[in-house]
Amino acid sequence: MNGQFLHICWVATLSAWVSAVANGLSPGDLAADSECESSFPESSERACAVSALQTRAKVTSFSTANSQDVAKGVESEKLLPWNYHAFQQGDWPRMYPLCEGNPNPDHPNNQFQSPIDIPSRGPHEPTDERLSLNGWGCTQAVFQLLHDYLEVNFADAGCTNLTATWKGTTYTLVQLHFHMMSEVQLDGKKFMGEMHMVHSASDGSPLVIGTFLDLPQSAEDMGNGYVHDMFLACTDIVNGLNLSRLVSAYEFGRYDVINPYFLQRAGNKFYSYPGSLTTPPCTPGVEWISMAEPILVSQPDFDIYHAFLSNRLRNGTQNSYGFDDRPPQPLNNRTIVIGEIK
Ligand SMILES: *[C@@H]1O[C@H](CO)[C@@H](O)[C@H](O)[C@H]1NC(C)=O
Ligand SMILES: *[C@@H]1O[C@H](CO)[C@@H](O)[C@H](O)[C@H]1NC(C)=O
Ligand SMILES: *[C@@H]1O[C@H](CO)[C@@H](O)[C@H](O)[C@H]1NC(C)=O
Ligand SMILES: *[C@@H]1O[C@H](CO)[C@@H](O)[C@H](O)[C@H]1NC(C)=O
Repeated sequence: MNGQFLHICWVATLSAWVSAVANGLSPGDLAADSECESSFPESSERACAVSALQTRAKVTSFSTANSQDVAKGVESEKLLPWNYHAFQQGDWPRMYPLCEGNPNPDHPNNQFQSPIDIPSRGPHEPTDERLSLNGWGCTQAVFQLLHDYLEVNFADAGCTNLTATWKGTTYTLVQLHFHMMSEVQLDGKKFMGEMHMVHSASDGSPLVIGTFLDLPQSAEDMGNGYVHDMFLACTDIVNGLNLSRLVSAYEFGRYDVINPYFLQRAGNKFYSYPGSLTTPPCTPGVEWISMAEPILVSQPDFDIYHAFLSNRLRNGTQNSYGFDDRPPQPLNNRTIVIGEIK
C-alpha cells in the first residue's frame, strides 16, 4: 500500500477541515508537513483522489462476487481510487459510475442510492411484512481494519448462525461495521454514528440493517455496554498493531457469544426502503432497514472510534479526518414503509 501518498493527501486537505484541529490535531502537526501544501497548491483533493489510484485496498463487493462468495464474506482485492474527501468534489462517480445515481439497463433502480434523509412524518405506509432476527450468536468474529471502517466479520470466522428474515427471505449476517457521523439522517439530523449490519441471502441479495448511534442525554450515562465492548475489543487495531484479529466471545465481553441482535428488541420500529451500498461501487438493489431509535453510546467510546478513523498510522487506508459518512442522496420519490421487529 502506498502510505506516503495517503499521508500527503491527508495533510494537504487539512486546511479545508477546520474541525480536524478541534479533533485533536495540533498546529505542530500541520507545520511539520507544510511541504505537502505546496505539493498540491491548486486542487489538493482532486490530486489526492488521483494519487489514491495507486492505493490498493479491500472492499466487499456485492456487484462482482457471486452469491456463494458473498455468503462467505469473501472480499475481492481491487483498486480503490476513492476516499472521503473526494466525493465532495464528485469523484466517486468518475471512478464508479453507479455512484452518480443514474439508472441503466443493468441497474434500473439506481436512482435509489443510499444513504437517505428520512422524513419521519411521512406519509409512510405501515407494512405487515415481518422482520425477525434469529440465532444464538457466534463464538468468535474477525475484527478487521478495512479501507474505510472497522468491521466485525462473522462469515470470516466461519459463523453463519445469525439470520434475519425479511419479506419471507432469510438473510445471513456477514459483517457489521460503523460509520461516523451517521450516513442515514432523520429529518435532516445526522446522528453521532451508525452501525450497519450487512446480510446476504442465499442468492446473494443484500440486506442492510442500520442503527443510529447517539450520545446519552446525561453525561453520567455510560451508554451501551455492548457497543463499548465491541470498540474495546478493537483497541489494539486502533493502536495500529494488528489489522485483523480473531476475537472470541469470552474476550469480547459479558456473554458467551457475540450477537449484535442483542441490541434490538421486538417492537422496535424501523423504516424500510430500497437503497444501495454507501461506498463505491454504490451498487443498488440493497434492501434497507433503518431502525428508528438510536443506541446510546458514550463520548469516550465515540472517541475510540474517532481515533481509529483519524489514526495516521493506518498505512494505506485513506484518512477521513475522523469521519466516514457519505452525504444523503436524493429520495427520488422512493417508497418508505414503517414496520416493527416481530
Ligand atoms: C452456532 O450456534 C451453535 C448453537 O446453535 C453453536 O454450537 C456453534 O458453536 C455456533 N457456531 C459458531 C461458529 O459460533
Ligand atoms: C506504517 O509504515 C511505516 C513506514 O512505512 C512502518 O514503519 C509501520 O510499521 C507501518 N505501520 C503499520 C501499522 O503497518
Ligand atoms: C497480533 O496478531 C498476531 C498474529 O495473529 C498475534 O500473535 C498477536 O498476539 C496480536 N497482537 C495483539 C496485540 O493482539
Ligand atoms: C415525484 O413525484 C411528484 C408527484 O408525483 C412528481 O411531480 C415529481 O416529478 C417526482 N419527482 C421525481 C424526482 O421523480
